Amino acid sequence: MRLKNKVAIITGSGAGIGQCIAEVFAREGARVVCSSRRAVNGQPVADAIRVAGGEAIFVQCDVSREEDVKNLVDRTLESYGRIDVLVNNAGVNFVKPFEEVHPSDWDRVIGTDLRGTYLCSWYSIPQMLRQKSGSIINITSVHTLASLPGATPYDAAKWGVVGLTKSMAVEYASRGIRVNALSPGLIDTQIWSDIKAAAPDLDECIRYWQSNIPMGRVGKPEEIAQVAVFLASDESSYVTGTNLLADGGMTSQLISQASFESRNLEGSSRDKK
Ligand SMILES: NC(=O)c1ccc[n+]([C@@H]2O[C@H](COP(=O)([O-])OP(=O)(O)OC[C@H]3O[C@@H](n4cnc5c(N)ncnc54)[C@H](O)[C@@H]3O)[C@@H](O)[C@H]2O)c1
Repeated sequence: MRLKNKVAIITGSGAGIGQCIAEVFAREGARVVCSSRRAVNGQPVADAIRVAGGEAIFVQCDVSREEDVKNLVDRTLESYGRIDVLVNNAGVNFVKPFEEVHPSDWDRVIGTDLRGTYLCSWYSIPQMLRQKSGSIINITSVHTLASLPGATPYDAAKWGVVGLTKSMAVEYASRGIRVNALSPGLIDTQIWSDIKAAAPDLDECIRYWQSNIPMGRVGKPEEIAQVAVFLASDESSYVTGTNLLADGGMTSQLISQASFESRNLEGSSRDKK
């Protein structure tokens, strides 16, 4: 087991990549703190881990709310007494032209993806400093290397998270805390369902995306979770400040295929519930 007894907080773990990271971490022996904005999503993930013989608790947490984040860290310390790994996974995104991005849209994305990462890190760091150890993994995106039209707040937030990652990495490297970004390409979660649902032609949409990924396929959440295990484990003891890509080669390709028009996306359907 690669994470035996490590205590790991995973934000936004009620669905998608975060849920998969929680499940894989538990299989690797971690004591997992599952958190999500709504108990209806996150509690069943923690329950299922325990039923499967793993160790997990659930704490409700909207990462954009400071009082929720403080409670998340307090509850983790009450239950397990330490924080070895923090995975800042919670994120929101939508696609719309910049001129239609209202200040409330901007605040929602920046508040979750960037401020949420700051808040969870800021509340966890004092305990990691006491321990003289810790690994913070910030889930970013291939959008930290290149962009697509209609993604301005998301790209600004995720680039900001890479800056935060590098700054914290150099600040804490000598005190045993590692901070890394993990950038997925297109992964089969709600966002991929939303992209397909918004496509005028489903077959064309699938062909378009597959042709723009050198591996010819969308990634699986498990393929991101396995990279997160590496960054959380002592196997990556000399890795800090990196932005590790898991994108099937997407950002290494110099020229992409023909452009594809999608309708606006207003965020995942789950986020609107
Ligand atoms: N799926 C992809 O293709 C892809 C690609 C690149 C990066 N990412 C990143 O991976 C992470 C997970 O994405 P996913 O595809 O699993 O998305 P998802 O929508 O399936 O899951 C995201 C989770 O975050 C939660 N969340 C949203 N706002 C929150 C908040 N304020 N507080 C707490 N939780 C909140 C959602 O409720 C949801 O459970 C995100 O940071 C996303 O930007 C995903």
